[in-house]
Amino acid sequence: MTEVASVLFGREDIRRRVQELGRTITGDYVGREPVFVTVLKGGAMFLADLVRAVDLPVEAHFMAISRYGGVAESMGRVQILLDLDVDITGRDVLLVEDIVDTGLTSRYLLSVLRSRSPASLELCTLLDKSVRRIVPLVPRYAGFDCPDRFVVGYGLDFKDRYRNLATIMQIDDLGALERDADALVPLLGDAAAA
Ligand code: IMP
Repeated sequence: MTEVASVLFGREDIRRRVQELGRTITGDYVGREPVFVTVLKGGAMFLADLVRAVDLPVEAHFMAISRYGGVAESMGRVQILLDLDVDITGRDVLLVEDIVDTGLTSRYLLSVLRSRSPASLELCTLLDKSVRRIVPLVPRYAGFDCPDRFVVGYGLDFKDRYRNLATIMQIDDLGALERDADALVPLLGDAAAA
């Protein structure tokens, strides 16, 4: 372990919580065939594990977005780079996010999806950084409450690195990581074992 980052949620914590979420979602959607929509790239790992924890005929679909500048300046407006190739009219849609921070991105995506007239629309996030919320948004399903720290791993990146960490790590010294984006590379193996 270095002082740049520390493990926030270990591999087993994540596995257990994803299984619990899967069971809850299975119970809530029983008799239906929900459409799970996630946003590349961060949500891909969570979605892959979540769909396998749900014992229903679910569909998994992806969107890709890019931001205009920072999240706050763009007020969450994003450019859709990859749109759904499925008609969600009348479907039960679950937006699956890796993290909800200010809430601006999720609010925008929910408004885009809602405009397509799904039968229902809910939000599931692995991490809920609720202390940073600037729009009133409460996910229907949340894996963990996340402290006000930058986090990486299990899909979440810093400059496209560290999505392949099996754990979720909080960055304790962001300045050090900004000076050297590869500072955590030596931890990839150790952290995966945690
Ligand atoms: P928002 O502020 O809720 O709109 O979140 C915007 C996006 O910022 C999220 O979808 C993530 O891609 C990214 N993000 C927010 N917090 C973190 C973090 O701690 N680590 C990595 N990415 C983050």
